[in-house]
Amino acid sequence: MNVLVCGGAGYIGSNMTAMLTKNGHTPVVYDNLSKGHRSAVRDAQFVLGDLSDYDKLVETLTKHSIEAVMHFAAFIEVGESVENPISYYHNNFCNTHNLLKSMENCNVGKFVFSSTAAVYGMPDTIPITEDVTKAAINPYGESKWAVERLCHFQSQTGRLNYAALRYFNACGAGENATLGEDHRPESHLIPLIIQAAMGKREDIKIFGTDYPTEDGTCVRDYIHIQDLCKAHLLALGKLDTERELVFNLGNGTGYSVRQVIDTVKEVSGKDFKVTETDRRPGDPPVLTADAAKANTELGWHTDYPDLASIVQSAWKFHNDNPNGYGD
Ligand code: UFG
Repeated sequence: MNVLVCGGAGYIGSNMTAMLTKNGHTPVVYDNLSKGHRSAVRDAQFVLGDLSDYDKLVETLTKHSIEAVMHFAAFIEVGESVENPISYYHNNFCNTHNLLKSMENCNVGKFVFSSTAAVYGMPDTIPITEDVTKAAINPYGESKWAVERLCHFQSQTGRLNYAALRYFNACGAGENATLGEDHRPESHLIPLIIQAAMGKREDIKIFGTDYPTEDGTCVRDYIHIQDLCKAHLLALGKLDTERELVFNLGNGTGYSVRQVIDTVKEVSGKDFKVTETDRRPGDPPVLTADAAKANTELGWHTDYPDLASIVQSAWKFHNDNPNGYGD
C-alpha cells in the first residue's frame, strides 16, 4: 500500500516508516522537521511539508497515489499544552482537520491515528479499558480526543475508515536499536535516566514520592516502540473492511518511576544521583492499559513486554548515538 506517514521523521513515525518498508508497503514521509530528524528517514521518499499547507497535502496525496495515511505529527508534551493550549489545538486538532479534509478531497479513506492514554484523564478503574469515560485533564489529551470524535463522525459518512490507537508510554529503540528517542528538549523518563547514567546530566529527578502507589512514585505502562508499530500494521490491514477501530496499546504491566530507575541502573551497570522533588502538575498516579481488545480483535501480542529489554534497546541507541541524530 502507498502510505503517507505524517511525522515520519519523528520517533514513532520513523520506526513505523521502517516497518512499513520491511513489510512490503511504500511509505512516503511528510514532515516539516520542526521536531523530527531528516536522518531518521532511511529508505522512504521524503516530502518537506506542513500539515497546515492544504495544497501541498493534496498535491502529495495525488502525486504518490496515497491509499492510507498514518498520522504521528503532533505535539506531545502535557505541561507545554497547559502553557499553550492555542498552539496544541492548532497543531493537534486544526492541522489534523486539514489533513482529513485533504484526504476527503482526494478520496483517501484509510487513516491510522496516534491517540493517547491522556484522553482518559485520571480514571477510577485501572487497568483502563477503551470504554472508560474520556475525561482529559489537559489540552494535549483533549485535542487528541477532539480528533477521535471528528474521525468517528467522518466514518459515519462512509468516507473514512480509521483506527485510533491510544498509546501508553512508548519507549525503547527499534530497527536494531538504531531508531530511538531524540526529543529536544527531552522530557521523557527513560531517555532522561539514561542521560544521567551516561553522565550527561547531574541527576534524575523523581517528580513526586507521595503518590498512592506502592513506593510513592507514579506507575506507567511502558510499551516497546517495535510492539507499538506492529499494532499499527495490523490495524492498517483491517481498514479495508473495518470502519472504526479503537484500541489501547500497552503491556498491562505497571512500573513505578523508582523501578524504571533501578532497571536503568541494572542494564547500564552505572550508578547516578537520584533527587526526589515535588510532583509535576497533571501527572495521574497510575496509568496501565487493558489491551485485551487489541489482543483479541487485532491479534496483537507484544514481543518485548519486559522493561529490561526495552531499556536495553534505548541504552544501546543512546550509547551508539551520544548526540542523538545530529540534525
Ligand atoms: N518523571 C520523573 N522525572 C522526570 C521525567 C518524568 O519522575 O525527569 C515521571 C513523570 O512524572 C511520570 C513518569 O515519570 O510519572 C513518566 O513520565 P514521562 O514524561 O516519560 O511520560 P508521561 O507518562 O508523562 O507521558 C506519556 C507520554 C507523553 C504523553 C502522555 C499521555 O510520554 O508523550 O503519556 O498520557 F503525552
